[in-house]
Order: sequence, then structure tokens, then C-alpha cells
Amino acid sequence: MDTRDLKRLLSGMSLREKIGQMIQLTGMYFDEEAVLTGTVGEVKPEEWVIRYAGSVLGMDGADKIRAVQEKYMEEHPHHIPLLFMADIIHGYKTIAPIPLGQACSFHPELVHEAAEYAAAEASSEGIKATFSPMVDVSKDPRWGRIMESFGEDPFLNGVMGIAMLEGYQGYGSIGGARIAGCLKHFAGYGAVNAGKEYNDVELSRRTFMEQYMKPFRMAVYADPAMVMTAFHAVDRTPVSKNRELLEEILRGELGFGGTIISDWGAIGQLEEQQVASGQKEAACAAAEAGVDIDMMSPAYMSHLEELVEEGRILESAIDRSVWRILQMKNRLGLFEDPFAGMKRSVCLSPAAKRGALRLACESCVLVKNEGILPLDPGQKVFWAGPYIDSREFLSRWAIFGEHADVETIETVLKGRKIPVKLIPGCEILSEEEMRIWCAGDGKPVEEGIQGDRKDVDWQKQYAGVEEIREDDTVVLVLGEHEAQSGEAASRAFLDLPERQAELFDMVARRTSHIVTVMISGRPLDLRRIAERSEAILLAWRPGTMGAQAIVRLIYGEESPSGKLAAGIPWCTGQIPVSYWDMTTGHRMSEADPGNRFCSRYMDIPNTPLYPFGFGLSYTEFEITPPQMRKEGAGEEERICVSCRVKNTGDSSGAEVVQCYVETICAPVVRPAKELIRFRKVFLEPGREREIEFAIERKEFVFYGEDMEPIDGGIPLRITVGNSSYNAAGSVDFTVGGSV
Ligand code: BGC
Repeated sequence: MDTRDLKRLLSGMSLREKIGQMIQLTGMYFDEEAVLTGTVGEVKPEEWVIRYAGSVLGMDGADKIRAVQEKYMEEHPHHIPLLFMADIIHGYKTIAPIPLGQACSFHPELVHEAAEYAAAEASSEGIKATFSPMVDVSKDPRWGRIMESFGEDPFLNGVMGIAMLEGYQGYGSIGGARIAGCLKHFAGYGAVNAGKEYNDVELSRRTFMEQYMKPFRMAVYADPAMVMTAFHAVDRTPVSKNRELLEEILRGELGFGGTIISDWGAIGQLEEQQVASGQKEAACAAAEAGVDIDMMSPAYMSHLEELVEEGRILESAIDRSVWRILQMKNRLGLFEDPFAGMKRSVCLSPAAKRGALRLACESCVLVKNEGILPLDPGQKVFWAGPYIDSREFLSRWAIFGEHADVETIETVLKGRKIPVKLIPGCEILSEEEMRIWCAGDGKPVEEGIQGDRKDVDWQKQYAGVEEIREDDTVVLVLGEHEAQSGEAASRAFLDLPERQAELFDMVARRTSHIVTVMISGRPLDLRRIAERSEAILLAWRPGTMGAQAIVRLIYGEESPSGKLAAGIPWCTGQIPVSYWDMTTGHRMSEADPGNRFCSRYMDIPNTPLYPFGFGLSYTEFEITPPQMRKEGAGEEERICVSCRVKNTGDSSGAEVVQCYVETICAPVVRPAKELIRFRKVFLEPGREREIEFAIERKEFVFYGEDMEPIDGGIPLRITVGNSSYNAAGSVDFTVGGSV
């Protein structure tokens, strides 16, 4: 529809029709007759709400979507189509690794491609918007939602967020098979205090603005259709009523022109946070702050009309919000075709599965290998652990994914005729743990997700362990349950589930040749496992093609190339820890490790067990120290950093060359270092490649003592290496000065 017609449409809408666009309800409220069922919190919405509600969340099934859309449009006075939205976080039916795993690939092109497949699949089934990507910087693995983020680094979150958004939305336009993306959760949710879900956030303004806002700042340039407000407060003002954040910073400074949607119930929750005396005040505060869509709270549907009639909210403000929503629908092509993109399902195509396999392979991180890997497919080995015959490689956020589409490791091994002895060993969680994690979706354990294994005689299974001899090699595939990460899944202990820890001990008593493959939604406390394993491969939650990826990597059909997007802590007490923690006085010096009067814990090392950016390969690489030159002058000044990377081993593989910047001396305390560029380079043995990173002057800007931007005259150091703790060399310079 052209802009003039769209404006005409808006001006013909009644106030209730307009407010309807600003209300989002779940699919549960619509039967195929589009008749309202259920309540929102305590409130049963009035009949008009369902007739005019602008968007629907989480409805599944093309037939139902089609039926609801038809009925709704028929009854809507202006025949405005509904927009169906859902959480497509790491795939629709073809499930890619969780976002944390995707970030470990350090390969944005693959992330982009996986998002394209997700968009095509979802769109073919009628879903035209996703609540993804999440770019919340997360350095606390107790937080269950670290699995949805791209890890601890602001720049990596930004790069991957852009890749995902562009995959969903397409470059420039979001027509055709594309879907609308939503950048979330604006902003700082990854810093919830003590990693506890839905907790508040206490960050200095500087850290918030510099590190936590950075990925949003970067990804807003990719023109997301929506931004979602987070639940928590920033500097004690909840985001959904934070005018400064939404109006001045997001819309003003960052120039975001799309739709702002609240998180689920976040507007209504202002009452619970005790910053609004009731739902009416909550609605008023959120509308004043510019939140366009109220997702699943009673506030807008019960009070916005009244607030406009009383003159507390101007109708022109409502018009601005509705205009943004209509524009989003228009960009998606819904006015021309309310079923835009819907066609015969394109789910689980061979190409989508190939993409998911490649991403799964590249997201696995090999953190330890004492020469035991890769295994020889002719060698007799044991594969043990609950994950060898399990399909649980998805996550709680793979809401449309089906376990039936996931192959097991056992099937893959048998399909390849690899001679192995299988010991499934034990269940993923004990009954007590199943209860704690509500793991059977509230169903009794035997009907829950582990139901298909209820007849297993555990004693008999453990009996297989007796066959292991001390020179045998055992691949143990262990890890968290799907229910242990995602939303509402914070953990205070980051150990293996108890039965699996027992199984590990039993095996470790018989042989030291253990390869541990870890399935998890977060960095776990791996120290004890690491001490007694000869190799560790972190596979995260690897998705539909996870089993194939693991087998390929273990048998060396491919070399691991993932790097940690979030460091593995030395123990839970070290959390939160990240490579970009602030520089301190009382710095611990390698020359004097026994010194107690420095910033440290006395009982553990100062560094994580495995740091950000770290990951091994089956081959070796050499990176040369960086060279540097400057281009341009003044605001146009660019720093060009170059180095060479060479595959010095005897198999092909990929290295991620990482470039970090640190300030040598500044008026304020700064992060020890920050990732500023990276490149994944695939090389055959003996081959080498020159890499150059061009960095704009503005990328070095940081806030000075009075929060004024400092954009030059500060001595800086660039290091290049293959992890945050392993530099091949460095070069010092000053922006605006000489090299
Ligand atoms: C989550 C969001 C999600 C929304 C809709 C909320 O509880 O925090 O990330 O998009 O639900 O499902």
C-alpha cells in the first residue's frame, strides 16, 4: 500500500481500532471463529479487544492461522490484517544450535543463513515476525537465558545480532518470505543481579551505555522492525516507562524508527514493581514513554481509551504508535496479501538441514585435547551417557521444533557402520531433579520428556561400564536437560546432573582415556570433568543436526573451529567473570603469583578455566604480530591492522583471528581489553593468508569523566591473537596522533 493510502487508512480508524493495533494477545485467545477465550491476568478483555487486537503471539499451525486471519479480517471494519508473531529463536522446524553456540562459530555468514531458513520456514506457515535476536551481553552463566544470547562480548553480540536480523528481514526490505525481527531485551537484561532470572539490574551508567548498549547500537543500523523493552529497571526506572531510554536514546540518538513492543506483561508489571499505582497509571507511563505494543498485559486494553478521553494521552501519540505498526505490516506485504509468504511448507529441506549441520559443526568448541582426538573410525571405542540415545538436542526455545526430527548419536554411528559399544548409562536427570526443573512439563516423569526411556533397567545399563578396561577409550556424552536453560531457568550450581556425575566417576575409575562431549545451554563448572578427561568438546544445544555434527567432529571428518563466546569459569564462585572486566589497582602479576595483596581469590586462579575466544583445532596455526597503518585524517581516520595467519599443521582447518583494543592510559578506568574485529579463516595445510582489519576512528570512542565522548588523543594498544588471553603481538598508537 502506498504511504498516502496508509495515512488515509489511519485517519479513518476509530480510537478503539487504533488502540487495538497496540494490543497483542496470545493464540490462546482465538479459536478459529476468532472469538475471545480466557483472561489477561485478572481481566477478561472486552469483546472489542479481540476484534481489533493488532497482533497474535505464538499461534501454531498454518490452517489455524489462515482461518483466524480470514475471520478476523472479515469482521474488522477496515479489514486490517493481523500480524502473527512468535519466538523463533534458533530455527522454526529445522533447529540450528542455540544462539550461544551460533556465536561460538564466529561465522556470521552461517548465522545469517540459518536465520534465512528460519524465516522461510516460519513464513511458509503464516508467522511473519519473530522475537529475536537477543543481544543481551551475558557474562553470568547462572542466568538461564545466556543460551539465547551471543555471549559475554558486546561486539560479538552486535555482529551476530546484525547477521541474524538481516537473515530474517533480508537486506533493506522485509517483503516476500522475510519476517520482521525484534531486537531484545532493551537493554541490559543480561546483567541481572546474581544471574537470577527477572532480577533487577545494577550497572554503572558508563558500563550500561558503553558495553551493554553497544550491540543494540550496532544492530539498530540493520533496521530491526521491532525492539522489545526488557522487564527490569535501568537506574531504577523500568524500561517500559523509561522515557529517556526509549525516546531520547533509542529513538533520538540511535534513530530507531520501528515499533517498540513490551516484553510479556512488562507494562502491567509496573504495578508489581511498585512504580505505578495501578494498571491505568502503568498504561499511562508506558504510552508516554512510547511503547507501541502492549504484549499480554491488561493495561492498554483496559485503560488507554479512558486516558485519551481524559486528555492524559494525546490521540496524536496513539496515532504515532499505530502508524509505526501499520508501516510494519505494510513492509511485510500484508495489506496486499494477508497470507504473504504462506505456501506449501518448506520446513526441514535438505538445504536447511545442511546449513544447520554446518553451523552445528562450527559451533562446537574443543577446549581440551591431549592428542586423543580425532578418533579412528576403525578403533573400538565405547560411547556412553544419556545423550547417545536421546533426541534432546533442542531447547526450550525451539518451540516449534520436534524431537522426532532429531537423529540420535546411536543412529548416526550405526548408519556409518562405526564399530562401537554403546552404554546409554543413566537418565539425564534424576526424579528429584526432574521435579525441581519441572522437566516433564508438569507431567508425571514416566510421561514426560524422558518417557520413552522409562522401561530401561538402569542396573543393567550400568553393567556395561564393567566391560571398560583401562586402555579403552570412552566417549561420554553428558550434559544439562533442555529444561535447565532458557527463560526462568537460572541455576545456583553449575555441575552435571547427579546421575551423570556418578556415571562419569564410574567410567573414570576404569579408564583415563575419556573424551567428554558436553551438551548444555550455558558454560558449566567443568573443572573436575576437565581434570579427568583427555578431551572435551562443548556442543551446547546443537539442534536438529547435533548428533551428526558430534560424530563428524569426533572422528575428524571435520576439524573443530568454534571459539568460546562465553568463557568457562574456573568454578561457580568466580562468576561473573569475563575477559573485559575492568582494569584494577592491585593487579596480580605473573612474576609474583604468591602475592596475596592483589585483586584475586586466594583459593583459585584469577583467569577462567577456558577464556573467551579460546578453542582448539586438529591442526595448528601461526599468527604473526600485527602491523599497522593509518588511512585518512580527522573524523575519516581509519586504523588498518594486518597480520598473516598460516596453517602449520597437517590437516585443513579454520582459525579465528581476533583483534582486541585496550586503552593504555585514560581519564577513567576501562575494560582490560575489548574485541574490536575478528575473522574466521579456512586454510589447507601449509597455506597462509594476510588479514586486514580496517577500524574507524569512531569505534575507539569511549566516555570520559563527565560522560563526554573521548574520541582521540588517548594511547591505545591493539593485540592480535587466537583468544582473549593469547596474543601473537601488539602495536601501540594514538588515534588522532602518530603510530
Ligand atoms: C520473554 C521474551 C519473549 C516473550 C514472548 C517473555 O517472557 O522474556 O523474550 O519474546 O516472553 O514469548
